[in-house]
Amino acid sequence: MSVSRFGVSLEENLLKALDAFVKENKYPNRSQAIRALIEKSLVEKKWQCNNVVAGAIIIVYDHHKRDITAKSNDIQHDYHDVILSVQHFHLSHNICLEIIAIKGIANRLTELSDKILAIKGVSHGKMVMSRAE
Ligand code: NI
Repeated sequence: MSVSRFGVSLEENLLKALDAFVKENKYPNRSQAIRALIEKSLVEKKWQCNNVVAGAIIIVYDHHKRDITAKSNDIQHDYHDVILSVQHFHLSHNICLEIIAIKGIANRLTELSDKILAIKGVSHGKMVMSRAE
């Protein structure tokens, strides 16, 4: 893909923050860092659209609390068409980590993620997405 150049005007403090970001994340230059930031921001906005995206929903919960496993299972069956695989790790006697790999229309994946993360008792959860086409 061809690359276009354009000038960017930034306040001094924002430029310092950008340089710190470049250094911390070991980007070779500012352009690479800006590219990554733009891409991340735009891809995240696409979660609410009809584009095909892929990623994972990651949740941590105490399986002794309420019926989290059963509820999560019910929801997952309603979305079987977008779930690629599910990995379940028993972290300790009580705590479970679940990684649900997903691929499909962004709107539908966001809907699934909202339902999973809304289950009472899910202590931590996050959806991570990326372009898939
Ligand atoms: Ni478990």
